[in-house]
Amino acid sequence: MNRIITKKILSQDVKEFVIESPRIATARHAGQFVIVRANDTGERIPLTIADANPEAGTITLIFQEVGKSTMLMGTFKEGDEFKDVVGPLGKPTHIEKFGTVVCMGGGIGVAPMHPISEAMKAAGNRVITIIGARSKDLLIMENRMKAASTELHISTDDGSYGVHGFVTDILQSLIDKGEKIDLAVAIGPVPMMGAVCKLTKKYDLPTVVSLNPIMVDGTGMCGACRVTVAGKTQFVCVDGPEFDGHQVDFVELVKRQRAYLPQERISREAFQHHEGCCSEK
Ligand code: FAD
Ligand code: FES
Ligand code: MG
Repeated sequence: MNRIITKKILSQDVKEFVIESPRIATARHAGQFVIVRANDTGERIPLTIADANPEAGTITLIFQEVGKSTMLMGTFKEGDEFKDVVGPLGKPTHIEKFGTVVCMGGGIGVAPMHPISEAMKAAGNRVITIIGARSKDLLIMENRMKAASTELHISTDDGSYGVHGFVTDILQSLIDKGEKIDLAVAIGPVPMMGAVCKLTKKYDLPTVVSLNPIMVDGTGMCGACRVTVAGKTQFVCVDGPEFDGHQVDFVELVKRQRAYLPQERISREAFQHHEGCCSEK
């Protein structure tokens, strides 16, 4: 159980694991996540279930190495096991036939968008997916997102692939062309989700965002993941992760995400130093 069946490198610091987890593979829905612990002393890390295969009893996790725990996971090989994989957690995405849905994924946010585009398309929606990255070599899952969507658009910040600019530039051009959009969904770094919401608010376009605050228990007990939505405190792990983007206090979210930066830096540097000195790689 929790064994890594396959490991792929999707870009410079993004890895994909297919993990043996039959119960979660059967129970999960689009938009849900798991909390993993790499080893006995590992911290609890939330990761979206990017895909699942109930017949094979596997789930797919795609993660970016940003700090100690994700870097440690990145050293895992096929056959290695996670200490725990708990889930599925969070409320599933609300899927119905809305009409035309624009799904926007930025950076690692493309991975959690994959099951949502897929489920929206299966429900009969016209799914226009826009994926973006800083540059071509950091763009992930292009072919899978193409298959999961009716139409796929790509942007890169540096213009090395697709449209030169941000996902919001493509969204703006779709609006300018007169595209009738019934729902927008955005997942990515907080500035990207904030920019999408700022744009869609101007056009009264309903917008769902998937929030990524720091989580600890993932069951609504610790309060670590609290955010303010429409002036009320919400726990992202049980009330979300998806919320009406026009009601989210993004300024508070960023502040809370950055609360432990000094400790995270110390932990990352100690890990990198240890790996540099002692690993056999
Ligand atoms: P650290 O150096 O410890 O932290 C780097 C930054 O990551 C921090 O500044 C903080 O903003 C954030 N972070 C740190 N600890 C946590 C934590 N316990 N919970 C949440 N955020 C944290 N990342 C992916 O790459 N792929 C995914 O599919 C994915 N899905 C997510 C789904 C949800 C519901 C949430 C809340 C987060 C998701 N994340 C995902 C983010 C991922 O959990 C963090 O990148 C990871 O926890 C960083 O851990 P670290 O020790 O490597 O980095
Ligand atoms: Fe503890 Fe949400 S992670 S309440
Ligand atoms: Mg950490």
